Amino acid sequence: MPEMGNSLRAAALLAFVVLSILVSLLISSVQQFGVSHFSNATLAVDEQEFASLRGALIYQLNERRKEIIPLLLPDGDDDDDDDENGLSEGTRLSPQLYSPLDYNLWNEITNGSRKAHMDEMGCESLVDMQAMEVLGSGYTKLVVKVNLAGGQPVALKLVNEQGIDMSKCLEDFKDPQGCRELVSYKLKKEIVLLQRLQHPNVIKLKGHCAGDARGQGGRGAERGRVTVILEQGNPLQMIQLLQSPWEDRFRVCLDLVRLLHFLSQSPLGSVALLDFQPRQFVTVSGELKLTDLDDASAEETPCQTDADCTLQFPHRNFTLPCSYRGVCEGLNEKRNIYNAYRYFFTYLLPHQAPPGLTHLVDHIMNSTGELKADINQTLEAFEHILLLYKSGLHLDNLPPSIIRDYTVMRGMGTSGNVEYSCWPSYSQQGCVLSVHSAREAAYICNSHSQCNSFTLTGQKTWTGRLLASFRSSFSHLVPDGTSEVYVKKTKAPETSTV
Ligand SMILES: Nc1ncnc2c1ncn2[C@@H]1O[C@H](COP(=O)(O)OP(=O)(O)OP(=O)(O)O)[C@@H](O)[C@H]1O
Ligand SMILES: *[C@@H]1O[C@H](CO)[C@@H](O)[C@H](O)[C@H]1NC(C)=O
Ligand SMILES: *[C@@H]1O[C@H](CO)[C@@H](O)[C@H](O)[C@H]1NC(C)=O
Ligand SMILES: *[C@@H]1O[C@H](CO)[C@@H](O)[C@H](O)[C@H]1NC(C)=O
Ligand SMILES: *[C@@H]1O[C@H](CO)[C@@H](O)[C@H](O)[C@H]1NC(C)=O
Ligand SMILES: *[C@@H]1O[C@H](CO)[C@@H](O)[C@H](O)[C@H]1NC(C)=O
Repeated sequence: MPEMGNSLRAAALLAFVVLSILVSLLISSVQQFGVSHFSNATLAVDEQEFASLRGALIYQLNERRKEIIPLLLPDGDDDDDDDENGLSEGTRLSPQLYSPLDYNLWNEITNGSRKAHMDEMGCESLVDMQAMEVLGSGYTKLVVKVNLAGGQPVALKLVNEQGIDMSKCLEDFKDPQGCRELVSYKLKKEIVLLQRLQHPNVIKLKGHCAGDARGQGGRGAERGRVTVILEQGNPLQMIQLLQSPWEDRFRVCLDLVRLLHFLSQSPLGSVALLDFQPRQFVTVSGELKLTDLDDASAEETPCQTDADCTLQFPHRNFTLPCSYRGVCEGLNEKRNIYNAYRYFFTYLLPHQAPPGLTHLVDHIMNSTGELKADINQTLEAFEHILLLYKSGLHLDNLPPSIIRDYTVMRGMGTSGNVEYSCWPSYSQQGCVLSVHSAREAAYICNSHSQCNSFTLTGQKTWTGRLLASFRSSFSHLVPDGTSEVYVKKTKAPETSTV
């Protein structure tokens, strides 16, 4: 009951927050217009200024539009045609010049409510939705956790009215409506990229709505407003991740490498993530997904000599080869690898790696930190570790005899446990770790002075390893079809069996 009260209160709070944002927006736009009627003298000046600001804003809008057009090109001809030249001709840049399919996509994003595919959500999906809380916000976007009318949880991305992008634009152009439209281009670009770059480690686009949430497409005050409907995730919390088992941290790194492998040969070419930070990612059931794509770029860097191909990082510079085509070879791929190394691997990978795997982890750390390996080799090294870890091959040197120190009782669980804690445990109470087999669990129990028995619970981690719970003692055995209890023989524990 109190939980329900809380979520109601949270919903009310959010409604209030959203409302106050809207109200403050309204007030500021009224003020914006009010100012220009202030006096006769300023009016003329303002009109002139307004015209030139308007011109500059329109220029910016066109620039943003141009950024998106190349992304609408059909797959596979990003190699030899020179987009740059094609676009700078000052033509109308109508996507109509390109394939009809892509023109549809453009209309779709611009006027909105029509569905692109049978399974895609549009504005009508947002009717009677329930906003739960703010999931996150950044320079450009606000992300809200929402339950749709049918109960389906989604995340909605909107323009962040309080964000840096919006306030900078307002400062420059003093046109809330135009600025919203300008900032919305980042959402539009993201929609196109999400459609083009579909992968298990990219957040799933469920649909979008142009215009207001209930609206019939972009009109009047709602022109240019875009809402993106996404699969709901949990923002990546580095601090929390640092405290979780190696297996989960390895998963995040592996998912990242799989993503970068895909991006290096994506339908758009080799894509670099220019703003590469943990906050651009979320997890969905433990799986890493990229959610912020507006800073993804498939552009290649032109060069004359190798010296034109430097990658600069705060503590490290690299020089890459300039290819015969006159572009820096593998620059986007290498930029991603080094960023993965400096933002993810250094924090998540080496710490508490399983003893049998440390040499392989160290090798990955060195080859990515020195940019000696390409993404294919890096992925191979990660998949190799996964294979060893899953199959328990890294445990080959554990003596098979250690399991003989224990008496096993199948189909049993325990009650009246005396727990101890260990780190990093899968459970807050007690010591729960993942193991490959009873043998590995016995090995761990032997190494914990408080441990006298353990249970293989039948639950599994994402790699298929078993969850084992270790304890000092227990008072009763209870029937439990899925689990097995192992009790140390040598130090007879004070237990009474049923
Ligand atoms: N699908 C999602 N599920 C849950 N949280 C999300 C989702 N998408 C984004 N977020 C959260 O919202 C935050 C802001 O989203 P996003 O990064 O797209 O906005 P931004 O304005 O581009 O941010 P930045 O200034 O970091 O570039 C993210 O950092 C993330 O924590
Ligand atoms: C106000 O502007 C009008 C026309 O724009 C002009 O005729 C009038 O003299 C101006 N008044 C003052 C006080 O500047
Ligand atoms: C969207 O707008 C374009 C012109 O901007 C128009 O040609 C097209 O028919 C519109 N599509 C829909 C579905 O309204
Ligand atoms: C990287 O290159 C820049 C520009 O040439 C230079 O200023 C900087 O000191 C270099 N950094 C390192 C760590 O070598
Ligand atoms: C990689 O290994 C070499 C040789 O052992 C060492 O000098 C270098 O610092 C290592 N680099 C990284 C990034 O770990
Ligand atoms: C990397 O692997 C892909 C297939 O996954 C292959 O097409 C590509 O040629 C490989 N690249 C290199 C440089 O080996």
